[in-house]
Formats: sequence, C-alpha cells, structure tokens
Amino acid sequence: MKYTSSPEPSLRERKHAARARAIASQGMVLLENNGILPLKPCNISLYGNCARLTIKGGIGSGDVNCRSETIVSIEKGLENAGFSIATKDWLNHYDERYSRDQTEYYGRLIARADPTNPLSTIVDYLSNPFCPPDIPVFTKADLTDTDLAIFVIGRNSGEGTDRHDRPGDYRLSVNESQTLKLLASHYKDLIILLNVGGVIDTSFVHDFAPSAVLLVSQAGAATGDAAADILTGKVNPSGKLTATWAKQYHDYPYASEFSHNNGNLDDSYYKEGIYVGYRWFDTFGISPAYPFGYGLSYTDFLISNTSVYASGTILCLRTTVTNKGLTAGREVVQIYASLPSGKLEKPFQQLVAYAKTNILSAGESVDLVVELNLYDLASYDTSRASYILECGEAFVRVGNSSRHTHIVAKLAFDREIITKTLKNILPLDEYFEETSNAVDVSYTYMGECDEKAQAPTVKIDANDFVTQFAAYKPRTNRLENTCDNTIKMDDLIKGKFSVEQLTAQLSVMEMAKLCVGYSEGGDLAIGNSSTIVPGAAGETSFHLFKTRNLNRIVLSDGPAGLRLTQQYMRTLEGKNIDDDSVNPVGLAMLFSVGSKPAGTPSGQRLYQYATALPIASLLAQTWDVNLISDVGELVGAEMEEFGITLWLAPGMNIHRNPLCGRNFEYYSEDPLVSGLCAAATTRGVQSHVGVGTTIKHFAANNQESNRYFENNHISERALREIYLKGFEICVRDAQPMSVMTSYNLINGIHTANSEDLCISVLRDEWGFSGIVVTDWGTTGKGLYGLITASHPHKYPGSTSFGCIAAGNDLVMPGGNEDIQEIINAVADGRLPLAKLQYCVTNILRLMMKLPSWIKLI
Ligand code: BGC
Repeated sequence: MKYTSSPEPSLRERKHAARARAIASQGMVLLENNGILPLKPCNISLYGNCARLTIKGGIGSGDVNCRSETIVSIEKGLENAGFSIATKDWLNHYDERYSRDQTEYYGRLIARADPTNPLSTIVDYLSNPFCPPDIPVFTKADLTDTDLAIFVIGRNSGEGTDRHDRPGDYRLSVNESQTLKLLASHYKDLIILLNVGGVIDTSFVHDFAPSAVLLVSQAGAATGDAAADILTGKVNPSGKLTATWAKQYHDYPYASEFSHNNGNLDDSYYKEGIYVGYRWFDTFGISPAYPFGYGLSYTDFLISNTSVYASGTILCLRTTVTNKGLTAGREVVQIYASLPSGKLEKPFQQLVAYAKTNILSAGESVDLVVELNLYDLASYDTSRASYILECGEAFVRVGNSSRHTHIVAKLAFDREIITKTLKNILPLDEYFEETSNAVDVSYTYMGECDEKAQAPTVKIDANDFVTQFAAYKPRTNRLENTCDNTIKMDDLIKGKFSVEQLTAQLSVMEMAKLCVGYSEGGDLAIGNSSTIVPGAAGETSFHLFKTRNLNRIVLSDGPAGLRLTQQYMRTLEGKNIDDDSVNPVGLAMLFSVGSKPAGTPSGQRLYQYATALPIASLLAQTWDVNLISDVGELVGAEMEEFGITLWLAPGMNIHRNPLCGRNFEYYSEDPLVSGLCAAATTRGVQSHVGVGTTIKHFAANNQESNRYFENNHISERALREIYLKGFEICVRDAQPMSVMTSYNLINGIHTANSEDLCISVLRDEWGFSGIVVTDWGTTGKGLYGLITASHPHKYPGSTSFGCIAAGNDLVMPGGNEDIQEIINAVADGRLPLAKLQYCVTNILRLMMKLPSWIKLI
C-alpha cells in the first residue's frame, strides 16, 4: 500500500487510462450503418444532452470518483480526433441549463438533509437521483450548415430506483423527437450516439432513418476518446449486445407488472420462468429491434466449415472464421443449443459457448476450437431435485448473433441422463402460473427445416456420464477449546494451530464483533465507512489486533473501478478525514454527511485517484473474457496500491427487465455471459496476492425500487437455471474471495437470512470457500431501519442473528445493534454457538490471506 502526497497524475494513472481507453472501444456496439462510418474528421454539428456532459457510468455506489479532468466527453473525444464543432452555442446553452439544474438539485437535497440523520439524505439521494435535464426546444436557428449532425442521447440510472417507460427515460422526450426530426430533414447525414447504461426505445431509427447508430454505452473516463476511435475507424467495432433490445417496452415478459408499473413494489411474480431475454423473444416468436448477440462491423465475416464431435462428455466445435472484407476486425462466434422438450419445456435456444477472434486482417482466416461440457446443458427437474439431459435430438447452432445462426449438428441423446442430484431449495411461498411454450410459435427462418434434416448426427453416449450427488454438511459441531496458549494469527500462518482452535478460544462478544463490520463509535455511514481508506465502503473490526494479531479487511465499491475519496487529510494523530471542500459534490460527500468535524482539517493532504472503467454491460459486450480478465488485473493492481482487500464487484444479476435501475452494473440477460464475465474479472483481480472480488448481489436483485423489502416469487427451476447459474459458473471457475447477498427476499426469505442460499447452494453444492457478506444496511439501524420507520412494508427486514444462522458470515457495514442482537440470540438459544463459530472460521481463513502490505494499526 502506497500513499501519495503528490497531486500529479502518477505513471500508474497514465498507464491505466490508456488501457481503459483500449478496453472501452471493444464493447461499443454499432447498431446501424449505411456506410457513412468510419468517418474522416470534419466539421460537424453536435447536439444532445450528453454530448458535452457525457455520462461515464451510472449513479450510486457504482459511481467511481476518478480525477475529474481525465473524463473525456464525447465533444472532447471528437475534438481530440480532429473534428471541429459548429454548435458550441447550443452546447453552452445546454451546459448552463444543466449546471443550474444540478446546483438547484444539490441545494434542495442539502436543504432537506437532517444533520442528525445522515442516512435520510442517502435515501433521498438514491430515491430522487439527479438526471440530465431535457434538451431545450429546438429551433431552426440552432441549425448550422455542416453536412453531418451527431446527436447524443444520454440516460442515467442507479441503485435505489428503477427507470420508467416514459418520455425522457426509456423513450425519447418530446424535445428530443422534435429535434431529431429537424436534424434528419436538414442535415445530409445524422449519426446517433447512445450514451446509455441500458436499453432504450429505438423506434427513432425507423422514424428518422439516421445514417448510423452507435451504442457508446457508458465507457468510463475514456468514453469520448473511445467513441471517436470507433467513429473514425481507428478501432473497428466488434462489440455485440448482451441484452435483447425490444421494438417496444411491452414486448418484454410481463413488462406491465415490473416494479412500479403495476403499483405493487412488494411482490414480483416471475411468471416468465426460464424465458428471460432472448429465451422469451425466440421461444414466443417476437421480433426484437436488435437481437441478443447482435453488432455490426466495418467488415464482413464468414463462419464456415464447422465440425462438431463429442469426446466423452466434452463437445468440441472447430470452425473457420474468415474476414471477407477490406478492413481488419474481430468477430464473435456464438454457439447456441436447442434442447429436446420432453418432461421439461425448453427455450427455443440457449447460449452454450462463445469465442472471439483476434484481429483478422482483410482476407485472413483463423480456425477456432471451442469446447463445452455437456453436463452444462442439463435442465433442472424440480420434482426430482435433479439436473437432467433428456432423451431426443438437440440442435447446435453457430453464428454471430442469436438471430443469425445455422445448424451445424444434431446431438442424439438415446436416453435420459441424470447429471446431478441436489435437494430442493427456497420453495415457493405462493402459487402462481408460469408461462408455458405449449403452443409452438417460436422464431424460425427460411431453410431451418432443411438444416435440421441435413445436420450431421453426433451420438452422445449416456454411459460416459456419472451422476453427481451434492453432500450437505451440518454445521452443528461446537468447537471446544483444548489449548492453553493464546492462539494468534501468526500461529495460524505458521501452521501451528488451526482456525478452529483459535475460534474455540474466542468469547461470544469477540466473535459477534468479528462478524459485524467496524464502525467507529457505532456511527454508521453507508457506502463510506472505512476509517483506514477514505471513501471505501467499509472494513472489518480490528478489536482482536492486539490480542490475536487479526488485521482488518477493507472493502471498496465497484464495479466500474474503485470508488474512493480523491483527496483527504491525514491528521498529525494519524486520523484520516475526508475533506469535502475539495472533493466534488456527489455520493461520496452525501454518504458522509454529519460524520465530520466542522472546518477544514489540518495535516497532510493525500490523494487516491482510481481509474474509471466502463460499466459492466459494456465489458460484457466485448465478449472477450481475456480482456475482461485484464480489467480485473488492472483493478487488482489499484487495490494493492490503495490497501483494499475486497472489491465489492462484479455485479452479476440478470437483466430481467430493462427498467431495473442497476442493469448497467450487471453484465447480461444471459447467465452464461454473466458467469464467464464475473469469473474472468475474478481471475484478473485475484492474480494479485491477497485481494479478491465480491460477486453481488446474491441473488435475484432485479428490482431497485423498494429493494430492501421486495419479495421475488421464483420457481426453483428459473432460480437455478437463470438467476443462480451465473454465480455458480463464477464460483466454480474462479472461486471469488467473497459473495454479497442482496437486500430482497426470494420466496418469502431474505437472501441474507437464507441458509439454502448461503450454505446449501453456495458451499455444499458449488464448493465456495470464501466469506459471505451482507449488502450495506441490510439489518439493524441501517437504511433498512430508516426506511421501515418511514414507510410501512408488507415484509419485514432481515435480522443480524438470522444472517449468522444462515451462514452469511459478515454483517456490513455493521453497528453496535447488530453485535448486541447476535450476542442476545446466542444467549437465548435462537442462534446456536456452532453457527457463529462457523462464520468466524470463514472470516479467519480469509484474514489468513491478507498480504503483508496491508497496513497494520
Ligand atoms: C449497494 C452495494 C454496495 C454497498 C456499499 C449498497 O447500497 O447495494 O452494491 O456495495 O452499498 O456501498
């Protein structure tokens, strides 16, 4: 851990900025191009709410406080690339409106803030986030005489609130539509850039026929430069969508029932079951505006000569990708499987593997070999609590989007195979009808029948498979002290004693404190409660440092980089104090309202500038797991520099509905993409010794409004195949150091209080060996307490002792109330001591991994 007292950008900052720019352009998706792109730099007219005030990433804990002068807007990026902008007046005018609105917004927020209750400000901020104001009414006087206009549409969102299917959010505002109409008729060419964190309505493509549309997404500090790299052809676009972009919002499953749409924020019924995203659109024959996996390039590729063979339980595909065009570029080969419907319904297809080529020069070919494990194709049969591969024919489809594939093989399963036997988890608390695909209206294409008939058959031999059985271990063994010495961490590291032996020596109070995050003097500051690393979200208690050498674990958000305070003061007594006078107004400041001494602190000024990376959905859109692992490596290096042990990222929930306020922090509507991206990130971060990821929010955090008390009613099959699957892939492939439970309930139980999730699934079935942490303020007097006090809720909150009982090892950010509740629950028998001891052993095992660079107290 290095401290810097120099305000100058470090070599690391400059190197990471260059890497971040290269990463950013790889995940932008070209949606439309009539040939205008790539462009030569020229004189252009630039409009739109985020042309200058470009959004680098969403709001909330996912926001990264990078060095503000490193943020490159789209306007700046275009200028850097040699474009000149003829509409400075329009941009200045909008700028003034934005600044005025923003100042008024923060003024209102601060005026409403209750200094005795800082958490109320956070709730207020998250429930009423600042969004860029609408653009002004467009007049002919705003037109210029350039040939080309570029119009930027930006949308922001964040935790705590869902988006709305209304003008100015999911849809264009009236002013945006009127402006686009005028631009389309006046300028020879119109290019639309989408600076959005999630799906929006793209019917403007039909209405105004722009020459090109680029999903710039929110690409971190380098957004403007990376967008210019694509527009000028310095980088050939190779990003592909990881969510289906519907023609209209109501094409999504049960769209009118999502979140605030039906006025019921308490209950969500997952009636679509497994038919999420393209599984819904394909199975029920709904044409999307842009399908999952779609994205254009400046060149054309041919995927040909695909051969498929099985070697035991591994399916191998060999295929040739040829760049048929004149420009160098990269292609993503996507492999889907259509499994036979038998006892269980199946979606039309599901993604089973993918691979991205390196840059292929014009005319170049490459042979790709992709392997997949046939066990992973199994579907979950709830009645037998088993994964099964059903008897019949499965079709393997290969192509470059979910709607552009060809059948390359048919797999013949001659009998049913039970691949895995588990136990039932999280039973439904209420009956509801799930959608069925009984009437076959699925998507098809010309020639599909012939392809099916002609596909070579690959026989799958059921004898090659061995049924796996999960072993569920009880946590009833109470540890008894058998040793006279006072065992310390050093003894564990030297192998002299075990974590169980140290745990057995701890009192209930000591253990309760270890299982609850540290908050100085019981003062809670959600999202910014580390005393060691200002701006980090929290840390564990170090009350056992002197007696047992137990050091702290510092945890910091994500996912688009590390969220830290940029500048702070180290007092002569060694205390770290945020100095809000120099940090920009925003979440970091609001999160610490009321917890500071008045006046400007004196001491040494220190600096922490982390890199603002692209949002998770852009990273997923690269379809490049090596690149994503590289992003993780970059973050891991910064964690080492700043002294962070656990990164509260990646987020990996499923994009169930496009209005979820946090989709930008998540990868995809598809569990395979989500799981592979999280695993790659974890591998990258954990290539650094002693630092790790915290995959979140486990599980089914798919609605942000009323997020602490929302009950998701989900069938076990949908849960296992869709909402848990990505987490499973990440745990099995990369063993993240930590998992964060979510706020919501699943089938009537808070995830943080669910033993099924925290123990049976995570540890017994998947072999997880890290720690499970709560989301911030899940219990006690945190946000939860505050919200309960102000609004009645149908469902109660989760409890601290319930977390420990369920195997959720660490309650964050922690408060004295949580500690007391755990102690009381042990005393009155609600919490068996063995369960508390079990959580402590997990925390100690993680602490053993802390590297020597962690600063000692
Ligand atoms: C968010 C988490 C975040 C935590 C700490 C919560 O509000 O849901 O994702 O890691 O705050 O900032």
